Amino acid sequence: MTIHIGAAPGEIAETVLLPGDPYRAKWAAETFLSDVRLVNEVRGMLGFTGTWHGHPVTIQGSGMGMPSLSIYVNELIKDYDAKTLIRIGSCGAMQDHVAVRDIIIAMTSSALSNMNEPVFRQLKFAPCADWGLLRAAVTAAEKLDRATHVGGIFSSDVFYTEHPEIDAEMERHGVLAVEMEAAELYTLAARYGRRALAVLTVSDHLKTHEALPADDRERSFGEMVEVALEAAFA
Ligand code: HPA
Repeated sequence: MTIHIGAAPGEIAETVLLPGDPYRAKWAAETFLSDVRLVNEVRGMLGFTGTWHGHPVTIQGSGMGMPSLSIYVNELIKDYDAKTLIRIGSCGAMQDHVAVRDIIIAMTSSALSNMNEPVFRQLKFAPCADWGLLRAAVTAAEKLDRATHVGGIFSSDVFYTEHPEIDAEMERHGVLAVEMEAAELYTLAARYGRRALAVLTVSDHLKTHEALPADDRERSFGEMVEVALEAAFA
């Protein structure tokens, strides 16, 4: 048991999937895992452990934004020794060739955040995915009937930006999409020598303003869970 996770020692699997939304954690665990049990409900940030084809897996909500994810990932790694951590979530696309419903597998994530400035000072650290997980996720995604993009994204501390010109610079530099968690996940994985990846669905498009309808969200969320599980145990 930690400050934010009520699981007993041994109740968290080495492989952890991290949706932002705790109810998505519940849905994914009930839909994809066997022998599911609730292992965390501190602050309503639900976490479940079960098995997928015999492999132990935990699906733990991370909350929204890097400060929230950072709390859970620090405790999952340092207190429960999680070894493979895969974010499954949504993102806003910012390139013309990327459409709503597409899957994005984040090779790198730039950060629009000061969270790690005290650590890196003047260095601009480049958070990147684990190569083996990335490769396995691409292979898994290619089996789906869904456009998949692999490249850089950016993680922002703000959802409601006052600075659209930063989005424009990201777009100009080929960044595929924006979300709010992956850069911190990749940074912590690098710091503690763990494997990390973010598999994302495009839920909205910053240029066309198209947004995914509610029932499509569930279907595409399911696809991400499949890609993440296949990549984790490839
Ligand atoms: N901004 C930040 N995070 C997001 C977005 C967005 O537009 N869409 C989905 N997650």
